[in-house]
Amino acid sequence: MSSTTLPHNYLENKSGVLYIDGVSTIKLAEIFDTPLYVLSENRIRENFRRLRETLLKHYEKIRIYYSAKANTSLAVLKILESEGSYLDAVSPGEVFLAFKAGFQPERILFTGTSVRDDELKFLIDSNVTINIDSLSQLKRLLKLHIPEKLSIRVNPEVGAGHHEHVITAGKNSKFGIWEADVLEAYRMAKNAGVKQLGIHMHIGSGILTIKPFLLAAKKLLEIACKIHEKLGINFEFIDFGGGLGVPYKPDEKPLDVERFAERMLNLFKDKIKEYDLGKPFFCIEPGRFIVCDAGILLTRVNTLKVTPFKKFIGVDAGFNTLIRPVMYGSYHPIVVANKLNAPEEEVYDVAGPLCESGDILARDRLLPKISEGDLLAILNAGAYGFSMSSQYNSRPRCAEVLVRNGEYALIREKEKFEDLVRGQKIPQWLN
Ligand code: LLP
Repeated sequence: MSSTTLPHNYLENKSGVLYIDGVSTIKLAEIFDTPLYVLSENRIRENFRRLRETLLKHYEKIRIYYSAKANTSLAVLKILESEGSYLDAVSPGEVFLAFKAGFQPERILFTGTSVRDDELKFLIDSNVTINIDSLSQLKRLLKLHIPEKLSIRVNPEVGAGHHEHVITAGKNSKFGIWEADVLEAYRMAKNAGVKQLGIHMHIGSGILTIKPFLLAAKKLLEIACKIHEKLGINFEFIDFGGGLGVPYKPDEKPLDVERFAERMLNLFKDKIKEYDLGKPFFCIEPGRFIVCDAGILLTRVNTLKVTPFKKFIGVDAGFNTLIRPVMYGSYHPIVVANKLNAPEEEVYDVAGPLCESGDILARDRLLPKISEGDLLAILNAGAYGFSMSSQYNSRPRCAEVLVRNGEYALIREKEKFEDLVRGQKIPQWLN
């Protein structure tokens, strides 16, 4: 029986209460209500800087594209814009949000799949760089417009990830262009008059070992070599995608970022030299790595229920608020924010308020003895938390708060009942 240990130094135990970036979680829950996402600005900046500095030790032409889908809140985008980040967008909506946060089009790479013609037109008008996912998309784009700059996403045939749903390369993947068609794609782009070209891969998400990155990168570089040899293309950038994992379970080890940078960039430098590829930018697209451990989800216990088999803690956040445990079977650390000094002595299931048996945030968790009214903090909730939330069961989405050195600010209001009917219309014949 030990009391709670906290995984990061921006999370603190002050007399048994969880503080994030100098702010009491109890106070935040009182002011803004629960469920509530809380993000630490310092941790976001720290994660970004740590990665950039580590990469820069090995090569000077580095670009980090923050993968916006992990957390698209304007305040988060603004923080990363101010850090000099580039941005990976996957939908016109993300491009729109990136502009709102002040990103210039030159700093945005659009990587979509199943992209419609009207979306292509929007991207052309927006002047962002388009990363092509299929020959169909390329043909349709070139009919509409010949861009100055273009990139092509390759399927490097090596995929990895924390769950089948997040593996984005290899045989079953819908993403990217296979090697057999890649040359054709670049030939079309070159012949059409595209001046600057990039090459891209993204193999999956939540990867904690370096090996899959290296294997896929090797393959991508070989493909780049062939294209260079056959078509004389000098790549402006080579983009190795996102996927840098973060540990969630107590026994998981963090990705060794120093080694990741060293191994990836040594391979990159060796191969661009060997293949005579000049000096392209080395790009990566982390989402989770930047924001995951900067965010927590606060949720209040409203019910305790003991059955012959289980002790359930009923809380006010369900898979409408955080879908990862249900969608991928993901584990998120949970602490009792008002009882950090209490011994962990009871095993509970943490259940949300939705009318679905699957609405369970955690099973068989060892926690301090819980009372109704206690405040739970679900950790590592900054990535794919709010951005995947929904109004399922007609529950308005929750608020988001940003904290920094003891200061806090609401960055997204919680939705109201009116938001449940926004845009809805009742046909005249029903009235
Ligand atoms: N680049 C591309 C083209 C991507 O599709 C993704 C993520 C990323 C970068 C960023 O990956 P990251 O560094 O965050 O792993 N909802 C899932 C993750 C899906 C990721 C989809 N693509 C989850 O909650 O685990």
